[in-house]
Amino acid sequence: MGILDRHKAIETHATLLMVLSLLVVSIGGIVQIVPLFYLENTIEKVEGMRPYTPLELAGRNIYIREGCYGCHSQMIRPMRDEVERYGHYSLAAESMYDYPFQWGSKRTGPDLARVGGRYSDEWHVDHFTYARDVVPESVMPPYGFLLRNVIDGEYIQDVVKTNRMVGVPYSDEMVENALADFTAQADPLGDYDGLEARYGEDAFGTPVNVRNFDGHADLTEMDALIAYMQVLGTMVDFSTFTPVANR
Ligand code: HEC
Repeated sequence: MGILDRHKAIETHATLLMVLSLLVVSIGGIVQIVPLFYLENTIEKVEGMRPYTPLELAGRNIYIREGCYGCHSQMIRPMRDEVERYGHYSLAAESMYDYPFQWGSKRTGPDLARVGGRYSDEWHVDHFTYARDVVPESVMPPYGFLLRNVIDGEYIQDVVKTNRMVGVPYSDEMVENALADFTAQADPLGDYDGLEARYGEDAFGTPVNVRNFDGHADLTEMDALIAYMQVLGTMVDFSTFTPVANR
């Protein structure tokens, strides 16, 4: 009996085929899953990651509400073309405070994982208002209405609390001061010492961005979204990062 004939015995016997397939799939699964139990940590520790400030968190919620993930990813893959275009490939730790994460898989527009600090606030206002004014070939829809949507942070404390509930390490103080920190971040003439003290510095020693992001007197959804854009990918200093494999 040749090897093909023996295989025929399996192929013509449904139960045997099922049992053996299950066995093969189980071995494959075990090989992938078991090592995870023996790794101390599947998220490489990096310096500089902090939870989003309340205003950034509000911006993130607008990002999700508007479906920006439908055209933008937030995960730089470890491939040369990606790294050359967008910067260091994304680490798990960089999205550990993202509930839900915004990795995405559709890129009608560029990856946004490291867009923070790449453009000025004014550029973002112009671009969100009418993208084709700054990038003539753009197909990105206009979001000018964000400038007219004034926000007062009514529910921001609940948002921070909810994020804490699912695992983001917001302190009691951060929760208590959520509303104050929310307004302080967009008011550079006000008192933002508390905000800076609570959220600290990133790996570069840079404190939280405190600016009037949209240049308008009111605190608007545009402020929140730009505050979120400007912090993306800026927290970790990759010149000090060594992958575990090279340590
Ligand atoms: C229909 C697809 C689409 C949607 C939806 C969309 N974008 Fe874009 N976006 C693009 C395209 C295409 C570009 C590249 C051309 C340009 O810069 O306008 C882009 C560019 C950008 C850039 C500049 C990135 C860079 O590195 O140059 C930012 C920032 C951005 N989008 C943010 C957003 C945000 C925030 C939202 C949701 C409020 C959003 N986009 C929704 C398609 C989209």
